[in-house]
Amino acid sequence: MNGITPRRNTFIWLIALILVGYYVLTRFFELTGSFSITSSPSGTQAADMAISVDLSWHAPISSNINSLSSAINGTGIYGFIFNSSTLPQGTPYGTYNWCNMPHVRRTEYPKVNSSYALEYVEVIHRHHKRTPYASNTFPVESYPWYCDDEGLFYAGAPLPTHGANQAANTYWSVYTSTSNPLAPRGFNGTCQFPQITREGLDDSWQHGKDLYDVYHDLLGFLPKKYDPKVVSFRVTNNVITSQVASMLVSGMFRGEEHENVPLLIQPSNIDSLEPAYSCSSASNKFSSYGAGSSDPGWTAHLKAASDLYANLDAISGVSPTDSGFHMSFDHYFDNLSARLCHAKPLPCSISNPSLCVTQKMAEEVFRLGQYEYSYLYRDAGARTLEYTAASYGIWIAELAQNLRDAMHATDSASNGSKKKSSGMKYRHNVAHDGSVSRLLSILQIEKMVWPGMGSEVVFELYKGKKDQQYYVRVLWGGQVLKSSNPTLGVLDMVRADILIAYFDGLAGQGAKKIPSLCSV
Ligand SMILES: *[C@@H]1O[C@H](CO)[C@@H](O)[C@H](O)[C@H]1NC(C)=O
Ligand SMILES: *[C@@H]1O[C@H](CO)[C@@H](O)[C@H](O)[C@H]1NC(C)=O
Ligand SMILES: *[C@@H]1O[C@H](CO)[C@@H](O)[C@H](O)[C@H]1NC(C)=O
Ligand SMILES: *[C@@H]1O[C@H](CO)[C@@H](O)[C@H](O)[C@H]1NC(C)=O
Ligand SMILES: *[C@@H]1O[C@H](CO)[C@@H](O)[C@H](O)[C@H]1NC(C)=O
Ligand SMILES: *[C@@H]1O[C@H](CO)[C@@H](O)[C@H](O)[C@H]1NC(C)=O
Repeated sequence: MNGITPRRNTFIWLIALILVGYYVLTRFFELTGSFSITSSPSGTQAADMAISVDLSWHAPISSNINSLSSAINGTGIYGFIFNSSTLPQGTPYGTYNWCNMPHVRRTEYPKVNSSYALEYVEVIHRHHKRTPYASNTFPVESYPWYCDDEGLFYAGAPLPTHGANQAANTYWSVYTSTSNPLAPRGFNGTCQFPQITREGLDDSWQHGKDLYDVYHDLLGFLPKKYDPKVVSFRVTNNVITSQVASMLVSGMFRGEEHENVPLLIQPSNIDSLEPAYSCSSASNKFSSYGAGSSDPGWTAHLKAASDLYANLDAISGVSPTDSGFHMSFDHYFDNLSARLCHAKPLPCSISNPSLCVTQKMAEEVFRLGQYEYSYLYRDAGARTLEYTAASYGIWIAELAQNLRDAMHATDSASNGSKKKSSGMKYRHNVAHDGSVSRLLSILQIEKMVWPGMGSEVVFELYKGKKDQQYYVRVLWGGQVLKSSNPTLGVLDMVRADILIAYFDGLAGQGAKKIPSLCSV
């Protein structure tokens, strides 16, 4: 149905199983050699012999999200919220809210029982709500958008240990001059497009506070005060992630707003978090089935939505031949949702102000956006996993190494060893929908959606107190993530060596498979 790639047949599955079996056998010796799962020598590790990871793609479950007839002919938007960071009264927390997605919070946190000790946490989430990107704005907008209620502090300053001259707290203030005859694209006003909005900054602060409430107040895991030896924050080369991080850190470690906090960032051409490294094979794969392709599995929904497109173009003034707006619903989706999240009206035609985008049209755009993300990252078959494993393989290899390091650090500490290890207990990554989507694709989430503002995935590493084994729990929107891949299944206390073997299988330890996977 829907022209979606059918499941792989049994034959291919068998071949995959044989390959994986071979991989596991060869890998077993590497695994037990590089880090010890138990302190006994190999031979008594029968349990480890049983590590078998299935690296193949498994279809997501069928739901409204990935049904074309529901996207085109359905009504409403599946109970999802698009019009405020705050849920309407009576709507339970955990409900999809594009403006401010659910995350780990004390009231809903599923607590693990006392037979496990939490050893390491890694968080990744999409930035919070923002203005639209300039490229997603209509050629002419009928109202301005102001951001005078916040400052974008963009500055350089010597670190205290490297100079006495202090910096002033300078920030960007967007203006246009009467002597400049050119009009900005899209909105007039005082925002950079994009920038995190004032409300998005507040959501970021609250997100930090909610995490601290759980990992400090409830679990006593995070230190009371910011400590760079055990906590670190990472951003991408897109400045909006730094705008989120400054608020989030303050929400976590209140009262220390004036402390200097480093935000880790990789060079822009190799940044694995965004991701920004180039991977031509992955891009080629994506263009062969995704936005811009003529793959019938992709174009089916664009054709079915031709009436909607005609109506939107007539109102927005976007040319029907504008490929950016017509190869996917991304632009219209961003364009309409950003307004609604900030309680701005849906747009009307400049030339005919009585012709406006209706709530019904917006809802169809939102259903189609969900359909597209499910198709691009899950439904389009094994190529979705090939695409995301290559284009996000470096980040998952970094995550796998962070987990290995944390296990190693815990073991050597409990051994009374003075051997130095990083000791990092909590890493926090502020990223994008492209980052979170790829990760969800790699984890083969059962029900894919477009990750809204603040969408969060948390990896928690535990050590069993009795068996001294390591386990990982993965939380999506604050609750246990369910995978369609039987090796991962319900990601609730999955043995850490299994999850790591899965990541290693896709990307290689140290992401060593990525250079060759990417360069073709
Ligand atoms: C939507 O409904 C119309 C009218 O019933 C039908 O012709 C069309 O095939 C449906 N579209 C999809 C994608 O199911
Ligand atoms: C947002 O939409 C919901 C229904 O989807 C509605 O109940 C609520 O009143 C709306 N809130 C605002 C702020 O418009
Ligand atoms: C803790 O949880 C695990 C797994 O859910 C379960 O097997 C175990 O019996 C529980 N232990 C206690 C003390 O409740
Ligand atoms: C929506 O798209 C139009 C057309 O390019 C653009 O002018 C407008 O600024 C966009 N608005 C938003 C909120 O993205
Ligand atoms: C935006 O500014 C331009 C000049 O910079 C002006 O011509 C136009 O009318 C303004 N649009 C709105 C909606 O204020
Ligand atoms: C802990 O110490 C014992 C004895 O010194 C050693 O055999 C074992 O390998 C160590 N375990 C780890 C995980 O370092």
